[in-house]
Order: sequence, then structure tokens, then C-alpha cells
Amino acid sequence: MNPPTFFRPDESRPPRYRRGWVDDAVAAIEADQCRTADTHLIRLIVPALAGIDIYLKDESTHPTGSLKHRLARSLFLYALCNGHIREGTPVVEASSGSTAVSEAYFAQMIGVPFYAVMPRTTSAEKIAAITHYGGNCHLIDDGRFLYAEAAALAARLGGHYMDQFTFAERATDWRGNNNIAESIFTQLQGERCPIPDWIVMGAGTGGTSATMGRYLRYRCYPTRLCVADVEHSAFFDAFCKGDSAQTCDRPSLIEGVGRPRCEPSFVPGVVDRMMKVPDAASIAAMNVLTRRLRRPVGGSTGTNFLALCRLAAEMRQGGVAGSLVTLICDSGERYRQTYYEPQWLAACALDPTPYEAALTAFLDSGAPLQLDIADAGQPQGR
Ligand SMILES: Cc1ncc(COP(=O)(O)O)c(C=O)c1O
Repeated sequence: MNPPTFFRPDESRPPRYRRGWVDDAVAAIEADQCRTADTHLIRLIVPALAGIDIYLKDESTHPTGSLKHRLARSLFLYALCNGHIREGTPVVEASSGSTAVSEAYFAQMIGVPFYAVMPRTTSAEKIAAITHYGGNCHLIDDGRFLYAEAAALAARLGGHYMDQFTFAERATDWRGNNNIAESIFTQLQGERCPIPDWIVMGAGTGGTSATMGRYLRYRCYPTRLCVADVEHSAFFDAFCKGDSAQTCDRPSLIEGVGRPRCEPSFVPGVVDRMMKVPDAASIAAMNVLTRRLRRPVGGSTGTNFLALCRLAAEMRQGGVAGSLVTLICDSGERYRQTYYEPQWLAACALDPTPYEAALTAFLDSGAPLQLDIADAGQPQGR
């Protein structure tokens, strides 16, 4: 593979051909990517599911601990190359935490002030990480006002509102350039089923699923995309009803995924199927996967894994051999005080026990997996 080519700040070039600070900022981000390794694609060994290969793309190993590292890098490059961020421009973001951690890292790298507008319920670990990278946290009580608060703060500061929920889908290069989809297919090359039957993703902005779905179509892969939505979120209804105006009154308990509105970056036309996973089932799947990997994963990884198991159960029932891929979105270390804390679960009236028993039986023995969760294919006519 040829080494990537990009301009470095080159003092020998005549000044009129340099954009000074912006050139340096872009070069710094590109250099950081050069130093950063790709994330692992882990094969989960499940002897009871002979013929069905399960892979987990481990996005928790990015320098800032989640798949949002990719998005933050893309959003900064997009904003720099669009002239939205210049030397000293304060950058403001609305986030449930993970994106803000990653953006704080890139803001510090290029030396601009960073402000994260987040729900007051955001985990202490994420707040500490943002502060560690020099970011400022602006916590609000009602998550529905996240967007307006972030836009207003950016206006007050004379800064740039990054707006991941709008720009995630277009900031990422969906045709390749080592995006997450291309990385998965490259890493599968040596496997016995290198073209997965299904890829399962969650949706926060919807940007990762948009990148994945577009890439599958662009490369003409027969792989289908399943988006796993959570209990308190508007995406599933928007998909089923073909109506992006759907809303949800309660905030999602699963950090990083589930939104009160169908975000502009969610592209339903590239999604083949959606499931709506109850929060207790997400926690159950998180626990089951954590035991199998012998390290803690986050709640949204549980959401993904639950949907993947349902698809694997269908394949098993239909006698279909093949492969399935989903993401480890972040580590469970961020959620020690919440999803891994029995008192927190009790306060939220979440009982993962029945789901855990069903999933464990399925993975241990291949027993049929009976789960009462809403599930919908692409509505006709789209
Ligand atoms: C922690 C976390 N953040 C965000 C997302 C969603 O990504 P996106 O914003 O691209 O939809 C996920 C997806 O599963 C996630 O687990």
C-alpha cells in the first residue's frame, strides 16, 4: 500500500500559497491518523453456533475510547476545509458525551477552545475525559434543548457549532478512504465468509449507519444493514412510518444511541431492517458479551449484540451458514456507576435477568431465541 500523501506545512513554499494556521491544523490531524493503528476485528468464538461466524469491530481501542474518534476527526477536517474553524475559533458541540470526548482531543491538538453541551446525566467518566483534554462542559437539565443551547452558546462565543447530528453523514467519506466499512471488509478478507450476511449498527447521529449502508451499495455487496434502535428513541418509528418528524418524549438511557428526534444524519433509505431493543435487553446483552470477552463493554454495544444474536438465531433456524458483524462502540469502564451498578438498574426499574437467561441459553446450546422485540424490514416502495 502506498503511504498516504498529504501536504505538510512547508516553509519553503511561497507564503501566498499557504493558508498558514489551517494548513498546520489539517496536517496535525492527518499526522495523528498516521500514528494511529486501525481497530481490531475480533472473532467471537461460539461453538454452539457452528457455521455462523460472529465478528466484533472493537472501536473502544481508539485513542479517545469510542467509535466517535472517527467522527470527531472527520468533523474537524470538514469544518477546517469548509473554512468554519480558523485560528482561535471556539468550537461548540451538542453531545451525549462520547463525541465530545473525541472532539476535545482534536480541539486540544489544533489549539482551539472547546465547549461540550451535554445532558446533566452524562457519566462522570466522560466529563472527566473532556476536562482532561482541556474542554469545557456545559451541562443542561433537559436534553431536548441540547441543540438550541449549543447553537446559542456558539453564537455568544462567536464560535462554530459543529452539529454532529446534521453533519455526521456528510463529513465522513462513505466511498472508502479507510472508513469503518472499508476497514471491516478489508479485515474480513482472510475469513471463510468474508462477505457478511448482516452488519448491525446502532444510531446516535445515524452517521455510521449511513456510511455503512452507502458503502454496501457503492461496492454492490449483498450484505444487509440492520440498525438496532433503543427503547426511548425516534428512529424506529421514523423508519417504520416513513416519517422523519417522529419524536420521543423520554431521553434514551443507553448513552450514545437513541435520540428524541429522527436526526438529519440518519438515512433510512440505506437501512434494510430495524429492531427496537428494550433497555433491559441491551443491559442483558452487555453483561453476556462482557463475560464472553472477559472485559466490560458499554450499553450500546449490548444493544448491537442483542440484535446480532436475533439475526444469528434466524440464520440457525433457517440452516444458513455465514457471518455477522457488529461494533464494540465503547468500553464498559465508562459505565461502572450506571449499567454495572445494581442500585442504578433498580432505580431505573431495569431487570436484565430474563433476557440474560435467554441469550445465555442461545449462545451456550444454540437453543431457539425467543425475544419479544419490535422488528421491521424496509417499508415497501422506498
Ligand atoms: C457510544 C456510541 N455512540 C454513538 C453511536 C452511534 O453512532 P452514530 O452517531 O454514528 O449513529 C453508537 C452506536 O452504536 C455508540 O455506541
